Amino acid sequence: MSGTGGETVFAVADARFAYPSQAPCLDGVSFAVGRGERLALVGANGSGKSTLLHLLDGLYFPASGAVSYLGQPLTEAALEAAPFGPRFRADVGFLFQNSDAQLFCPTVEDELAFGPLQMGWRQDEVERRIADTLALLDIAKLRARAPASLSAGEKKRVALASLLVLAPSVLLLDEPTGGLDPRSQSLLLEILDGLHVRGITLVTATHDLTLLPHLADRVLVLSEEHRLVADGTPDNVLADTGLLLAVNLIHAHAHRHGRLVHSHPHQHVVAHEHTHDDGSGHTHGDPDDGGGSEP
Ligand SMILES: Nc1ncnc2c1ncn2[C@@H]1O[C@H](COP(=O)(O)OP(=O)(O)OP(=O)(O)O)[C@@H](O)[C@H]1O
Ligand SMILES: [Mg+2]
Repeated sequence: MSGTGGETVFAVADARFAYPSQAPCLDGVSFAVGRGERLALVGANGSGKSTLLHLLDGLYFPASGAVSYLGQPLTEAALEAAPFGPRFRADVGFLFQNSDAQLFCPTVEDELAFGPLQMGWRQDEVERRIADTLALLDIAKLRARAPASLSAGEKKRVALASLLVLAPSVLLLDEPTGGLDPRSQSLLLEILDGLHVRGITLVTATHDLTLLPHLADRVLVLSEEHRLVADGTPDNVLADTGLLLAVNLIHAHAHRHGRLVHSHPHQHVVAHEHTHDDGSGHTHGDPDDGGGSEP
């Protein structure tokens, strides 16, 4: 199945995965991603989002079941073979949840040059792409800095730049907005939107439900039992309070309104109003007292 009806980029068939000496953390997961799709992967902490992205990037391999890219099973042997392996690595970029695992060069400029030089691009082409990418991400001033010395949000942008410089056709993004301030978050969403318009396939793992409508046209939900339990539009998934409670992406907690205490689910998505039996009204809308539908 693919959301676009076009070319299938990834097909995941009944994939199971467990870390050594651990219980399974992906338990029979199946889905497909079509060319140009904008997919979000949501689930509580530990549900398996990052692990699943590692499988899509051919960094881990399922214990049973299969993951394929453009119809080719993603196996260690396939990734070591030319032309498939190098083409896959050039096509697919993976933004790690932890930027420190991604950045290893002495300067930001070297970080951006590394991939293109590996690919054998001409020096003048590399320099042009680096300048364009630094400008796109508004990080030209960080060019000579050591990545290790940057703030978390700056590292995230440099890590994304090191992927975008290669002009990948698929991006796997693990919590890309983590640690970004509101302005950087907006810039990132704009950049991702631009990539989507250009037909780049985007798969984003997040537990920030507020961003779903901006990040995705289709949402897959992983349960804490490590199974896919929903596949729908952001609107449909966000409206399904029972589902979001069951997978622990929202929680019920108590409120006091004057002398009245009641509890209802919170998903911190949109402001909402409700009325109590005594006729008093109340609006939830600030970041600590956010939305959710009433029980
Ligand atoms: N390297 C590892 N070795 C052993 N267990 C691991 C390893 N990495 C993750 N796990 C376990 O696998 C499960 C899934 O982890 P994963 O990082 O994929 O979850 P996640 O959905 O990305 O969580 P988060 O929202 O916190 O990023 C968790 O129970 C986690 O403890
Ligand atoms: Mg994760």
